[in-house]
Amino acid sequence: MEKNNNEVLKRENAAFATAARIKYYDIVLDHGQGAIVTDIEGRDYLDLLASASSTNTGHAHPQIVKAIQDQAAKLIQYTPAYFANSQAARLAPRLAKLAPMTGPVEVVWGNSGSDANDAIIKFARGYTGRQYIVSFTGAYHGSTYGSMSLSAVSLNMARKMGPMLPGVVKVPFPSPWERLANESEDEFVDRMFKNFKLPFETYLPADDVAAILIEPIQGDGGIVKTPPAYMQKIYDFAKAHGILFAVDEVNQGMGRTGKWWSIQHFGIEPDLMSVGKSLASGLPLSAMIGRKEIMESLAAPANVYTTAGNPITTAAANATLDVIQDEHLLERSQKLGQKAAAFFKEEQEKFPFIGDVRMYGLDGGIDIIDPATGKGDPVATTKLMYRIFELGAIIISLRGSILRFQPPLVITEEELTRAFSIMDRAFIELAAGKLAAPANADELGW
Ligand SMILES: Cc1ncc(COP(=O)(O)O)c(C=O)c1O
Repeated sequence: MEKNNNEVLKRENAAFATAARIKYYDIVLDHGQGAIVTDIEGRDYLDLLASASSTNTGHAHPQIVKAIQDQAAKLIQYTPAYFANSQAARLAPRLAKLAPMTGPVEVVWGNSGSDANDAIIKFARGYTGRQYIVSFTGAYHGSTYGSMSLSAVSLNMARKMGPMLPGVVKVPFPSPWERLANESEDEFVDRMFKNFKLPFETYLPADDVAAILIEPIQGDGGIVKTPPAYMQKIYDFAKAHGILFAVDEVNQGMGRTGKWWSIQHFGIEPDLMSVGKSLASGLPLSAMIGRKEIMESLAAPANVYTTAGNPITTAAANATLDVIQDEHLLERSQKLGQKAAAFFKEEQEKFPFIGDVRMYGLDGGIDIIDPATGKGDPVATTKLMYRIFELGAIIISLRGSILRFQPPLVITEEELTRAFSIMDRAFIELAAGKLAAPANADELGW
């Protein structure tokens, strides 16, 4: 096997489409353990990305590896579209019980977060008999046509591919950058809620709307929590108009924010919810979970996939739930998240280019700004993340000027401290004007 990153990438590149990878670092990964990944040249990196929050239990967790291996030796695949398997049959009620919903709950399987969000569209329309879905700017819901139609975080997710799915209306997400100087939180929420209602008052009859779909904490939108008062207002609006309230937990669920589900930070119960990524510790499994009466509104085969809910992915998910519970990873996310928040706040005091810091468990968005304007600084962000990479940690950016901090929840305290000292060194070097952008800076990131 070739052991040179650049050589392997060159060969892959000859046969691999540009649209399928957001470019960051020229590495080819070989193996991982806990919060460390190693490339084919044998270089170790502290993983501060957790494979885009899809390996919350860390790499190669022995209990999960064993569950996958044991299941592989018994039965790799029989399509759940026709027959049940014992792993999926065990997982469905476990997930139904974990869902933050009272009353009977049911589950459908998918292969990706994207198709779980497609399922939200299908079941919301099926149950309500209404066509429109309302989603938010800044949202990332996935890469299938349905979920891409719901998304609004990159023009390249629509460019040249239209028409998108009809019946989707986007309203502005109340992200902190929308807030005016001197505007109080209440004034901000009121203004954003007015914006939310504008479509409903001008061209979108509320009784034609099937669902409102929101990431309670936007992931790719910058790790941004919806202001709780705003969340309550749109929830109340939904309930007042017979609109289903749906949440996307693909990125922020599975313990990432210190709770099982990010909607649990709001005391609100969704009607429908999508889950994926870390559900099976990164194996391709997703679920859409919803109130039973909604889930019973469609008949088979409205939502079947040959491999969704297969024995291996569901064995991995059962083991993942065990590990999160046994190793108290929710508490761990909270506790280590507090340490990380303290670290970044301290750095914020020291370095004027660190703007807003948002941490919800081990889940952070750190704005890198131009101190002169207060606006995001993509060049400084690229310099920083590239230097952090050179120093041995993998971190990427969101929206060009936000550092995305999402390590596996099993990261050790020693590893976390090491990550802090790497980042501190990069911040010091940036402040001293010592960092240069890599030659291909323009190609990197979203
Ligand atoms: C919030 C959210 N929803 C959905 C998705 C899509 O998941 P997948 O890439 O597994 O299709 C993602 C992926 O980044 C996501 O962050």
